[in-house]
Amino acid sequence: MTTLEDPTRTVIGEGVDRVDAPLKTTGAAHYPNDYIYPGMVHAALVGSTIAAGRIRSIDASDAQHAPGVLTVITHLTAPQLERGPMTLLGPSPPAPMQDDRILHYGQHIAIVVADSPEQARHAASLIKVEYEPGEALLDIEDPRAEILENPWGLDTEHGDVTAGFAQADIVVDERYTTPDNTNNPLGLFTTIASWHGDSVTVHDSTQWPHNVRTSFARIFRIPESGVRVLAPFVGGGFGAGLRVWSHTILTAMAAREVKRPVKLVLTRPQMFTSVGHRPNSVQHIKIGATSGGRLTAIEHRAISSVAMEDDDYEPVAAGSAVAYECPNARTHDRQARLNIPCPGSMRAPAEGQGNFALESAIDEVAYALGMDPLELRLSNYAEQNPVLGLPWSSKALRECYTVGAERFGWARRTPEIGSMRDGNWLIGYGMAGVSYPFYQVPCQARASLRRDGSAYVTSAATDIGTGTYTVMTQLAAECLGLDLNRVRFDLGDSDMPYSPQAGGSGLTGALANAVHMACGNLVKEFLDIVRDDDASPLRGAAAQEVTASGGRLHRTDAPDQGEAYTDILDRHGLEELSADGRSTPPDPQKIGMATAGAFGAKFVEVRIDPQLGLLRVARVVSAIDGGRILNEKTASSQITGGTVGGISQAMFEETATDAGTGRIANATFGDYLMPVNADIPDMEVIFCGGPDRATTVGTKGVGEVGLVGMAAAIGNAIHHATGRRLRSLPFTIDQLL
Ligand code: MOS
Repeated sequence: MTTLEDPTRTVIGEGVDRVDAPLKTTGAAHYPNDYIYPGMVHAALVGSTIAAGRIRSIDASDAQHAPGVLTVITHLTAPQLERGPMTLLGPSPPAPMQDDRILHYGQHIAIVVADSPEQARHAASLIKVEYEPGEALLDIEDPRAEILENPWGLDTEHGDVTAGFAQADIVVDERYTTPDNTNNPLGLFTTIASWHGDSVTVHDSTQWPHNVRTSFARIFRIPESGVRVLAPFVGGGFGAGLRVWSHTILTAMAAREVKRPVKLVLTRPQMFTSVGHRPNSVQHIKIGATSGGRLTAIEHRAISSVAMEDDDYEPVAAGSAVAYECPNARTHDRQARLNIPCPGSMRAPAEGQGNFALESAIDEVAYALGMDPLELRLSNYAEQNPVLGLPWSSKALRECYTVGAERFGWARRTPEIGSMRDGNWLIGYGMAGVSYPFYQVPCQARASLRRDGSAYVTSAATDIGTGTYTVMTQLAAECLGLDLNRVRFDLGDSDMPYSPQAGGSGLTGALANAVHMACGNLVKEFLDIVRDDDASPLRGAAAQEVTASGGRLHRTDAPDQGEAYTDILDRHGLEELSADGRSTPPDPQKIGMATAGAFGAKFVEVRIDPQLGLLRVARVVSAIDGGRILNEKTASSQITGGTVGGISQAMFEETATDAGTGRIANATFGDYLMPVNADIPDMEVIFCGGPDRATTVGTKGVGEVGLVGMAAAIGNAIHHATGRRLRSLPFTIDQLL
């Protein structure tokens, strides 16, 4: 029917510009804090200045009487709230301001509502709090911390790991650490809540409007139909918008009390303690190999931190079980409960940390064996999923390795440490492999064709800058045989068909399958209408005999036997026809294939001035198997952006927690280091492979894979240049001197 059924069609849209670009560049795209409601008032939050203990007293009287103040709510006056529901991402964070306990620094302990944001912030500064401090657990290796064993049930073991190490000629056994990182989307997270009786309209910086709707229904004990959540533009997320956070709930709570629309914009420092962060990790990796370069055993044990009374999904070690063909492997994840702000997913959660340890350790094995790191990876290539024992639904990692190496010029690498130089610069070449997990969950979409010949397609998804608007417009145009400008794709409204989160690199795939199905069902609707229609050249045609093209449907074997959608609607007196699509993820056991996520190979050149400790990333080549690519331009931008995120993780980002107080010591853009343009080199992106076999549209998701592998590849390149093996992120100057 459409070119999507053609498995050789790898890219369906090469360089389509973002359909929402004019809106964004002219300021017509409205982000949550661009909305203004009549009578709207403004909120400000007060955060705890201790990390553990109790509030002994809280005196809001000065704040109450400050100019413009409508209300101050603390745990003493807050209504009782339910905790949010279990979600696809695990349990919701605890309900805010329900008692006097302090579990982390920055915990919201009061919300002030005033006529203006300035008045609200001023009043918030007048609130006097006395604490009864407790002992704060802040160190991931604090022996007093509660340890959660195998919290997601993802620990794996296959083969006999002990026997595998006994067979090894060399064993690498090392410890790696990664710090807390903070997502820091550019848009300050904003909530606007406006109640009408027991119904509420919410504008929110969320990656998942339906999650806000379901959560609000539970938290405020109102019907889901009474909650409408709008997020047509988000302002970035990087995972920070996946959960329903305390500030969103408190804004709605305050708006209900003052019976006015309330807007809350988090400050940048509050963004460090209110909307999640990538939790730190301590990892031990042990890898055994024969002198011939065969892996005999892998053991990866990881611990990451989690907040008190919260859950966060961060299986750091799990990915190591499926990255290589190794007969004996064990992975093992633990969490340490600390008095820290709730962590959450941050771009490539878990993989970003786990891959750093695994791919650095693989490089260490290569050096121990005197083997080329690329050769070692190719020699232990997992042709099938080692845990499921099933063939992958697609895997072009070998091609990524070879094509990437060729483009990068890996063959020019001389293996001896410090053997490549350019004047004062030591040059290092490093690489890493990436196996990113498959993640798609159920998703729905609706497609309509209107009397004017245009299509309208919707789903309550979000576009966090990734290109959802654009690729879904393209896809619907492709499926319905319409010009791009005849299709409008809309998202970001919880009244639209159910969509999962923009997260886990899974939205494009899940939504593409739903849009494809909705469009297919819409074509069937048209064929149903003309089934007995003597005036239609399509009379009695079955969907599989028909092609959609040029705004019409025609018999595939006879292009002149067809008619325009509009002619069918006209003749039958219809304004429009609509159809739904619901995608469900394939079950590996049923399809007999391990559903594959994206794969990638990263090649990096670094330049180091050993006297100054200067580290520069000079070149990056990313070869990525992302399945079918819906739009080469936006997909490539995703990989480029992810690569920048990976350079940032490797060299810059570290959220610093004060060991005494739990205060985030660098919670501003001035103090929290991120790369600027001068830190970012030429980056090349190459797509390998073709459509994945497990789903109709065959995309695999490219939102996160681009970040993964960068830290290890840079670390491996540093080792090649200097002989130093850096096992602790970020790689800072002091580690290079
Ligand atoms: Mo992504 S961290 O799943 O938004």
